[in-house]
Amino acid sequence: MNANPITSLDHYRLLGRSGLRVSPLCLGTMTFGADWGWGADDDTSKAIFDAYASRGGNFIDTANFYTNGISERLLGEFIGPERDHFVLATKFALNMRPGNPNAGGNHRKNMVRSVEDSLRRLGTDYIDLYWLHAWDFTTPADEVMRALDDLVRAGKILHVGASNTPAWKIAQANTISALMGWTRFVAIQVEYSLAVRDVERELLPMAREAGIAVLPWSPLAGGILTGKYSLRDLCNQKAEGPQPWFGLENRSLLPTERRLGIADAVKSVAKEIGRTPAQVALNWLFTREGVVSLIPGARKLEQFEDNLAALDFTLDPAHLRKLEAVSAIELGCPHDDLCSGQVRDLITGGAVVGSAADGENVLPHKCWRLPTTNTGNCPAPASAVACGT
Ligand SMILES: NC(=O)c1ccc[n+]([C@@H]2O[C@H](COP(=O)([O-])OP(=O)(O)OC[C@H]3O[C@@H](n4cnc5c(N)ncnc54)[C@H](OP(=O)(O)O)[C@@H]3O)[C@@H](O)[C@H]2O)c1
Repeated sequence: MNANPITSLDHYRLLGRSGLRVSPLCLGTMTFGADWGWGADDDTSKAIFDAYASRGGNFIDTANFYTNGISERLLGEFIGPERDHFVLATKFALNMRPGNPNAGGNHRKNMVRSVEDSLRRLGTDYIDLYWLHAWDFTTPADEVMRALDDLVRAGKILHVGASNTPAWKIAQANTISALMGWTRFVAIQVEYSLAVRDVERELLPMAREAGIAVLPWSPLAGGILTGKYSLRDLCNQKAEGPQPWFGLENRSLLPTERRLGIADAVKSVAKEIGRTPAQVALNWLFTREGVVSLIPGARKLEQFEDNLAALDFTLDPAHLRKLEAVSAIELGCPHDDLCSGQVRDLITGGAVVGSAADGENVLPHKCWRLPTTNTGNCPAPASAVACGT
């Protein structure tokens, strides 16, 4: 669990191995602009931005790609003369000019072009945090890291982060940078919510080891965890094809039986504690180790206000256990094997190894698992001691 209680947007936290202070909720702005058909119009976007800024929020997430550049342009207008107050983060990598192979990807040409375009749309001369939006599997890691470092040295960007990139690639890239004295990734931006927990296998342990900040995107699973959809909707959808009232046809994350089951559990916890499902789903993420700031989105001001109230309460252990039970994933091999009491004993010879009797500091998955979650082919942990409770 995170040691620091969260209370408000101006309860700032450090971004990984950097001195940068950021709010615990980052303003997601993929919904700023109606260009993709489902976003907020300019006035609503401004109202959400103003509400965020007036509560002390300082951390803004956008991308060159969002709503075809409209999100960046709107933010430039909203931020105006208050530029230095905000930690402004944007991204590059997705192709902005279909048909041009060099207008997308992680390589130096696209990176330099993209940063200049973003600076122009945002109306600023520097970006606080520059995200590589997705690993392209074609540009060599040393080209990416050296080019990012050059942008830092030129004062165009201040810090760098990696989004949608495998753990082994981030570890490789940061190792090269550490050896060469170049700028390292200080944060990862990953899809993470009660509905999608795959990052717990490799990315979260990697981030923990390297002191990298974890920023979950789509923490409400695109709205599924707010409890607005039901199994009945899914059955109707199967029978009749995508329905307009699902509102999600253009999203990557669609409701499934499993995700709706998790949403039901979130709803039931919310009812028991007098909170909304969105608040419970967001609050749960603050209990995950390494999570520094969440990036929820909102299309309406009421949604933003609702989400903000996720900061000022703590879920009790019984409710955490209930959420864990319904949402746990199989870590698979080798993790389940390595967590098992049998394999631990084979390695330690039955002795207690580590700074704590429960294996703390030894098993990378301790903080994210309960022993009951081992449903894979690997042997179940022999005791709660093996995988933590
Ligand atoms: N790095 C990446 O690749 C990546 C990818 C995706 C997103 N992101 C970032 O993450 C941010 C959030 O992504 P997301 O929009 O998918 O996140 P999300 O928070 O999981 O979903 C947001 C959507 O859920 C619904 N919603 C939000 N709050 C609600 C509430 N309190 N009650 C009911 N419904 C509510 C709204 O959609 P409806 O009103 O339509 O239901 C809203 O647009 C983006 O803005 C972007 O900055 C990054």
